[in-house]
Formats: sequence, structure tokens, C-alpha cells
Amino acid sequence: MAYKSKNYKEPTNPVGNVAELFAGVGGFRIGLARAGWKTVFSNQWEPATKVQHASDVYVARFGEEGHSNEDIAKVESLPKNIDLLVGGFPCQDYSVAKTLNSSKGLKGKKGVLWWEILRLVHQQKPKFIFLENVDRLLKSPSNQRGRDFAVMLKTLGDEGYTIEWRVVNAAEYGFPQRRIRVFIVATKNKAGKKRGTPESILSKSGILARALPVEKIVEYLTEIELSDEADRISSHFNKGGGKSPFMNSGYYENGIAFTYKSTAKLSSSSMVLGDVLQPDSQIPDEYWVEDKRLKEWKYLKGAKSIERTHKGSGTTYNYAEGKMAFPDLLTNPSRTILTGEGGTTPSRFKHIIQTKNGFRRLTPVELERLNGFPDDWSKYDSNGKQVSDAKRAFFMGNALVIGLIEIVGKVISFDLKIED
Ligand SMILES: C[S@@+](CC[C@H](N)C(=O)[O-])C[C@H]1O[C@@H](n2cnc3c(N)ncnc32)[C@H](O)[C@@H]1O
Repeated sequence: MAYKSKNYKEPTNPVGNVAELFAGVGGFRIGLARAGWKTVFSNQWEPATKVQHASDVYVARFGEEGHSNEDIAKVESLPKNIDLLVGGFPCQDYSVAKTLNSSKGLKGKKGVLWWEILRLVHQQKPKFIFLENVDRLLKSPSNQRGRDFAVMLKTLGDEGYTIEWRVVNAAEYGFPQRRIRVFIVATKNKAGKKRGTPESILSKSGILARALPVEKIVEYLTEIELSDEADRISSHFNKGGGKSPFMNSGYYENGIAFTYKSTAKLSSSSMVLGDVLQPDSQIPDEYWVEDKRLKEWKYLKGAKSIERTHKGSGTTYNYAEGKMAFPDLLTNPSRTILTGEGGTTPSRFKHIIQTKNGFRRLTPVELERLNGFPDDWSKYDSNGKQVSDAKRAFFMGNALVIGLIEIVGKVISFDLKIED
């Protein structure tokens, strides 16, 4: 399929206003603009670095108006006119129960990102919320699987929302990357609103089911009781250490989560890695892998079983990993882009492809295309300085598949019109 890069266009007659948290380089904003939404507030702050690269690219692209480059903990409130709050919050820090040691209980500690999101929701109560995260979120932490998600459902539900979630693989809906993420969509409760049964919401009538159709239900609907206080859920949920009860589709309302495992209704047309490639004539030298380094790449991608010694105890153990595709197949969607994708050092996790001119890595433009960003979206910062390729790859590892955001954004805009 021929790839066509789409430019960003600010909607002229917006369907509603958006606040974008953890904005990165603006993936939500681009997708939602394509669905008619106007982003009027954004926040992006990188705790690990002094230079604020992602925020600088964001400002270069969208301008400074409504943008804040500070820790979310310092954002006092959102503008009053927000209809939809969105954010792909960082996956390193969703552990909500770290706060339990604090004298103020579960919600006490500043800087735990979930509580910052919830604080802003509590003040502004947007009609819709759309969050994105790694699917591991449904299973964390390892000693109490599902606890963090249970606390999130409970505390967001207590703010007056019903919540849907779905684990989505972008490739199953026709996009050229196998990126698997959990989408969480919350709708503010309205008195007298009829919603239908959990089964029908999850398979047909819910926002996520309408946007991203479900093929079939693989496991029966399970009910998870979350009527306890959030603090008690946090200390008791799944204490036995079994697997997380949260499956890939679910719905939460009034203290009960309903969940089942479903499969996606596959898109009839799909894009693959080969569709997003730039012509070899445009590929800079440093992307081509020299013959003498190919052996190293091959080794890293190969199956291995190595004896290792545990640093602390001195005991030995066997470390094994399976074989990965070498080179990555151009006839399949790509693997997930990770933040370490950039740079010339060989790696098991970076993509390596073979074209008629040899083996090479993917360029920043190709990575942007795999997420659906316009070509060269992240090339310059707000001072007109060129951003390094490694940083651009890092942004794309953090970002999302924009086409999915557009599809969900369209369904939310439809529901917003009905509400008004
Ligand atoms: C998973 S990425 C989201 C990327 C974004 N959706 C995009 O399309 O580029 C999370 C973002 O949150 C930012 N972040 C991390 N901690 C933050 C904090 N305390 N306050 C504000 N932003 C934060 C990170 O710098 C990162 O850009």
C-alpha cells in the first residue's frame, strides 16, 4: 500500500476542547485534530533532562499558546472549558500504592502521576477522559497483580465516571506497527442516562467497541467487586498473588468492573513495514550497517542460552532468549518502536531491514510514519535547531499510533454532540 504522510491541520470549526497531559511531541493532539478537536491546553515536562526536547518540539509545531512546560504536580488547574482530557502517562510511574506510607494515605504523595491526573479531574470534571498506557498496567505490581488498575478504576469512578478499557494492537486495525497499548476511556455520569448491559457496552455500544470493533468474546464475562474504599483495595487486592483478573476488555460502573477477553475484528486492509520506507537514495550513510558489524547484530538477534552469575549471591543461573527476525520482515507490520531505537550501536531491539542495497536501520522519518506522524515532525526544536536522530527515535518510542486516536476521537465527538 502506498504511504502518504498527512500534515497537521488545526480544526476550523472544533467539535470540542481538549487538554493534553504528558503531551510529548503531540500525538494525541494530531490525532484529535483530525477528528475535529481543538487542543487548548497542553503540559509536557521531562524529569530526566535539563533541556526540554519534547516540549521544544511541541512548541515549534503548535506554538506557545496554552502550553506549559512544568512538572504536572505544579499545574494548578485546567482551563474551565475542557470537554476532553487526554494523556499517555509514563509507564514507569503508575504504581499508585507507593503512597500508602504517607500519613495522608493513598492520595497523599505528590509526584505520583496518577494522583496528579485525578486532582485535575476532580477540579474540572471534563465530560470525557481518554488515557493510554502499556498493557502491563492491567497486571501491576507483581506481588498484587491488578492492584494499581483496580485503584485507578475505583478512584476515577468515585469522581463520577464510568470507564471502559481495551488492549489494542494497532496492527490489527490496519496500522503498520504492532504496538500494543491499553486505552482507557471515561465518561462523566449523567442522571437518567441508559447504558445497556456490560456485554453490549463491551461488544457493541461502548465508545471503544464502536471505534475499534470486536470480533468475538473468548472468555466469559467476569465481575470484579470494587466497592471497598480505595485504601482497602490497595492493601488487599489480589493479595494471594494470582494472575490479574483484568482481561483485555472491560467496563467499570458503580463499584463493579466487568471484564472479558475479546479479539479484534481485523481490518480488511493493512499496512506493513515495507510501506513506510524512504527510497534508499535518501538514506544517510550512518543508517547502513557495515558488513563487519553485521555479525554482532545477528548474534544479538539470535537465540542464546548463557550461564550468568548473580552479582549479590554469586549463584549461577541460565539466561535464555529466543530468536528474533533478522532482518525485520518488510511484509509484516513492524515491532513496537522502543525509546532506545536510535543510534548506531547494534541492539536486539532496534529494527534492522534489508533492501536491495544492504542492511540498514530505520530513519527518524520512517519511525514517524510507523506512528502516523507527518514526515519530519520532530526535526526542529523551537529555536530552529535540529534535534538529534536518537532523540527523535526516543520521541517515537514514547509516542502512539495517531490513527487510533483519530478513530476513538471521532466516536467521542459523536457522543459529545448527543450530550449537548
Ligand atoms: C508516554 S510519553 C507520552 C507521549 C505522547 N503521547 C506523544 O505522543 O508524544 C509520556 C510523557 O510524559 C512526560 N512526563 C513524565 N513525567 C512528567 C511530569 N511529572 N510532568 C509532566 N510530564 C511528564 C514525559 O517526558 C513524556 O514525554
